[in-house]
Amino acid sequence: MSTPEVEIVHREEFAAAHRLHNPALSDDENRRIYGICNNERGHGHNYVVDVVVRGPVDPRTGMVMNLVDLAGFVREEIVQPCDHKHLNHDVAFLEGRITTAENLAVAFWERVEPRIAEIGTCRLHRIRVYESRTNFVDYLGPRP
Ligand code: NI
Repeated sequence: MSTPEVEIVHREEFAAAHRLHNPALSDDENRRIYGICNNERGHGHNYVVDVVVRGPVDPRTGMVMNLVDLAGFVREEIVQPCDHKHLNHDVAFLEGRITTAENLAVAFWERVEPRIAEIGTCRLHRIRVYESRTNFVDYLGPRP
């Protein structure tokens, strides 16, 4: 019997401010594209991030990877730098990116993926970022 592969998920939440604004566009264009999300002084969200790791269930431990380790990676790489910050101004790894949920998911992937890869037996499968209960994005990593 082959070893089954399972996806495990760790969820974290953080609160942050942001402003959707592309400095390469005019103020009028920014207002047209982003509407109220372009508000000059920003606005806030309670973000939810799901980090999904996929791999074989180790027959010795019964686990894909230790969820305590996964929680630690997500807190260090995502929550601590972003929680109670203004994402446009306070978070070095988001510098130069428009702070949409799409771009957050890609940036979070880049932060967390090397930590998972280091383990060697499993891989980052998906980053899901909820900006609200009804709006979320999924990133499955760069195309091979
Ligand atoms: Ni927003």
